[in-house]
Parts: sequence; structure tokens; C-alpha cells
Amino acid sequence: AILSPKERPLAGLSAVVTSGPTHEPIDPVRYIANRSSGRQGHAIAAALRDAGADVTLVSGPVTLPDPQGVSVRHVETAAEMLSAVEASLPADIAVFVAAVADWRVAAESLRKIKKTAEGPPSLALAENPDILATIGHHAKRPGLVVGFAAETDDLLANARNKLERKGADAILANDVSPEGGVMGGSDNTIRLVTADGVEEWPKLAKDAAAGRLAGWIAARLGRSVRK
Ligand code: CTP
Ligand code: CA
Repeated sequence: AILSPKERPLAGLSAVVTSGPTHEPIDPVRYIANRSSGRQGHAIAAALRDAGADVTLVSGPVTLPDPQGVSVRHVETAAEMLSAVEASLPADIAVFVAAVADWRVAAESLRKIKKTAEGPPSLALAENPDILATIGHHAKRPGLVVGFAAETDDLLANARNKLERKGADAILANDVSPEGGVMGGSDNTIRLVTADGVEEWPKLAKDAAAGRLAGWIAARLGRSVRK
């Protein structure tokens, strides 16, 4: 069906979305990663597409299919994810949903590390680039930059801190304490934190939360939103 422009409030705008984990190699058979299914990030890419945006999805390794009608860049590491995001600029909207590994192994082994009688190896780690903070302070910064904060403790204080430190316009704060059952599940209870305050959203399926975010983005950019 052909949608009216009113139903595609982000028509003519471009968006870049990160999703999924990153994998940081230890050796050819092992890696460090965060838990992430990619479901929320992929749903946000699809919701922005449905709202009419021209979407680039930069995805770490996930088992999900590529969303239709979205240009997908597949990456493994945080460094590759940052390069792919920078290559997608300029963009009007950026939403960083990926669970980026905070550290990589400083010296990846090109040979498989074998178990020996000397016991386990120790791994020296190096800090990964912060993609949200880099783009939040970038010369080609998109007009609207949104990040996530998945926290088990001090949710709102941590979200406000990330908002400021990373140069974001909004942080979607998500309680991932073990009681919540969010990780890998189908629902999220989000608080949207901006410089203006905190908006509490009800518990929503990840695709409904994505649709709500697309609507919030359209309203924030002064685009008409379907009621
Ligand atoms: N993020 C990113 N690049 C990183 C780390 C995080 O782009 N290297 C983004 C995430 O995609 C998310 C936001 O920053 O949008 C917050 O991620 P989070 O892991 O909560 O923040 P950190 O600064 O890594 O802090 P923490 O010590 O809580 O992990
Ligand atoms: Ca982190």
C-alpha cells in the first residue's frame, strides 16, 4: 500500500542505527562479547524505515534476518562498527542500540591459544572506542543522537550521566536487573531521559517501543506524526 506523507513523517531524512553485540577476538576461535539479541535495535531500524527514513543498520553478529528495505552493514568488532557508522555520515538521525564490548584484547593471537600445564593465559585488554560519544561530539554530528543505557543499578543517574558525557539528545534507559527479564526477552520498560526530564513509557513489546521511539523522533524533529 502507498502510505500518505503524513504517515511517513521521517520521509526525506536519513538514519543510522547500531544493533547487536560486537565480538572482540581473543584468537581465531574465541572472543569477548556482551549479551545482545539485536531485537530492539533491529526493531528500531524497521520502525524508522516504516516512518519513511532512509535507514542504514550497522549490525554486530546476530541470528536475526536483515530487515527488508534497510541498508545493512555487517560488522564484528567495535572498531569496525565505528568505521561503518562514520561511513554512513552525514545522517539526520543516529540511534545507538548496540551492546558494544567495552574492551578488546590488546594483542589478538593469530594462532589458537592452547591449554598448557602452566594454566590459563592472562589477557591484556584495551578500551574500545565509544561510538555514541564519538558521534555525539563529531564534526558531522547528526541533528538528533539517541543512545541506550542498560543498567542494573542507579538507572536514571547513570542515564543522565551518559546523556551529558556522550553528547546525546536522549538516552533510552532500560532496567536490566535480573528480576526484570529484559535480556533476550520480548518486552522493554523504557524511560526516555533528555535534558528536559524523564518520560516513563509503559512496558512495551520491543517493536512497539521502537514505533514509539520513531514517533518521538518525528515529533522532536517537528515532523507531523500520525495520531
Ligand atoms: N556505546 C557505544 N560504544 C561503546 C560503548 C557504548 O556506542 N564503546 C553506546 C551504546 O550503544 C549505548 C550507550 O553507549 O547507546 C551506553 O552504553 P553503555 O554500555 O551503557 O555505556 P558505557 O559508557 O560503556 O558504560 P558502562 O560502564 O555502564 O558499560
Ligand atoms: Ca558498556
